[in-house]
Amino acid sequence: MHYGQLLNEAIEVRRFAIVGHRAMSKGKLPLNDLAGGAGRMDVLIRAVMSSLLTSHGLRENVEVVLHLQGGPGPHRRLKFVGSELRGFHAEERSVAGLIAKVIREPLPAIGHWIERTPGLYDGGGSLSHTLMEWKDSATVRLDADAERLWNENSTVPMQSTPTEDSIAFLLSDDQPLDTDQGIPRSLGSTWLQGHHAIAICHFLLDEGVELNL
Ligand SMILES: C[S@@+](CC[C@H](N)C(=O)[O-])C[C@H]1O[C@@H](n2cnc3c(N)ncnc32)[C@H](O)[C@@H]1O
Repeated sequence: MHYGQLLNEAIEVRRFAIVGHRAMSKGKLPLNDLAGGAGRMDVLIRAVMSSLLTSHGLRENVEVVLHLQGGPGPHRRLKFVGSELRGFHAEERSVAGLIAKVIREPLPAIGHWIERTPGLYDGGGSLSHTLMEWKDSATVRLDADAERLWNENSTVPMQSTPTEDSIAFLLSDDQPLDTDQGIPRSLGSTWLQGHHAIAICHFLLDEGVELNL
């Protein structure tokens, strides 16, 4: 099924925008130094894996945009579309390899997405462009210090009843997110690793916990 079809058939879409403030946007990705020379690319890879993978497969209703803001040169965006991805495996080095192939290529113009491998698109632009493209979704900015993402009287249902509304989440790497866009919501007062925060979002949506939006 093509992603456009998902939208036309009004299937619930979950979106994750992840900002990599220092993540390398162009050149030869140092596969043996993803946390250092690549600008915390390790954090982004864990986030993209947590967004897209279940134990045995891919979540077809998920779209992830990684924002590579560490240069050299302008910001770059990589979009992973769960319903179209091929060759995406639960192994950090293999995902790093997919990213490495893309950032060797010349940076596309803002607003122009080029499919580099099935389901992996390459584009220019920054978080503001992603938010414009996602204006049909409720957007949550994940922030431990904000109000809770669920209602005070929400319960976890005893049967999984996945949420039917589309929703987008904004997360950062290890640095604070410098935007006031999106509804600020917390998953608890302890700051977590980004990929753990994503897993909790999936849990709440998979189980159908009533959200505070
Ligand atoms: C490692 S944290 C970033 C911590 C960073 N020091 C900051 O101030 O944003 C990565 C991302 O996970 C999300 N996150 C972590 N813990 C969270 C929580 N308890 N509630 C909501 N979001 C959380 C936030 O979006 C955060 O940007």
